[in-house]
Amino acid sequence: MNKLNSIGLSIPEKNFIVDIEHKVMFNPISFSPSKEGAIGDEIISPKYSEINNYTWKKLFYNQFNCIKNDVCDEFINGINLLNIDRKKIPKLSSVSKKLKSITNWEIMRVEGLVYPRYFFELLANKLFPCTDFIRDISELNYIRSPDIFHDQFGHLPLISDHKFANFFHLFGLAGTKAKNDEEIEWFNRIYWYTAEFGIMKNKIENSSKKIYGAGLISSKSEFMNFYSNNIEVFHLDIDYMAKNTIVDINDFQKYFFEIESFEELEYKFTNWATKNEFL
Ligand SMILES: [Fe+2]
Repeated sequence: MNKLNSIGLSIPEKNFIVDIEHKVMFNPISFSPSKEGAIGDEIISPKYSEINNYTWKKLFYNQFNCIKNDVCDEFINGINLLNIDRKKIPKLSSVSKKLKSITNWEIMRVEGLVYPRYFFELLANKLFPCTDFIRDISELNYIRSPDIFHDQFGHLPLISDHKFANFFHLFGLAGTKAKNDEEIEWFNRIYWYTAEFGIMKNKIENSSKKIYGAGLISSKSEFMNFYSNNIEVFHLDIDYMAKNTIVDINDFQKYFFEIESFEELEYKFTNWATKNEFL
């Protein structure tokens, strides 16, 4: 029996089994009229206060100006394609509709971080989990856990890019095949060093690298750290990334992996996942 159905979540045209009881790692931070697990049109946005919308506007303005010359072209295209509102918090249902029309991905409303197995299942079904609360105005440069700015501004523009979306889908499909905690950790690390902190070689020779990871895109302090002298950059090596890296959420990143393009990311990930019998 589909456990999602057993607790009343409806997943139209989607078919997967997950352990829903253990998916949320944090308590809900804000009240929302929408049930957790709502997808696309089912998501009802909270009534955001003036200060909430002001926080969004300020975050968007500050962060876009901070990264606009150092972010990959696919992100800028995605912001334009999704037409993400710069002045007030966009409705998840509207952005989900646009995303569906472009890459056939949809948004699922969640209340916080989801456990890896459930997360992989969502990605394998072309569903991206998004929160709908926004941080406090005092937390413009730092957040304790992902909020709607991190999820929408940081992640969604890339998922509107067909090449990145293909990689993300394959990542989810492969992740569902992880057989034990060690293999789950491999996927956590790959996710961290690509979707959260990935960088791309600039197509213009001798100019700075371009960022594509949501952790860099949505956080001024992480972005500034990337341009400090204290970091190292390695070329993409999925096996090394999976088996020899550390994910430390309490410190700035010390090293990054650079890709030539999203085609290279998909190609190398597919090879690694096939060799390790995940695909
Ligand atoms: Fe994220």
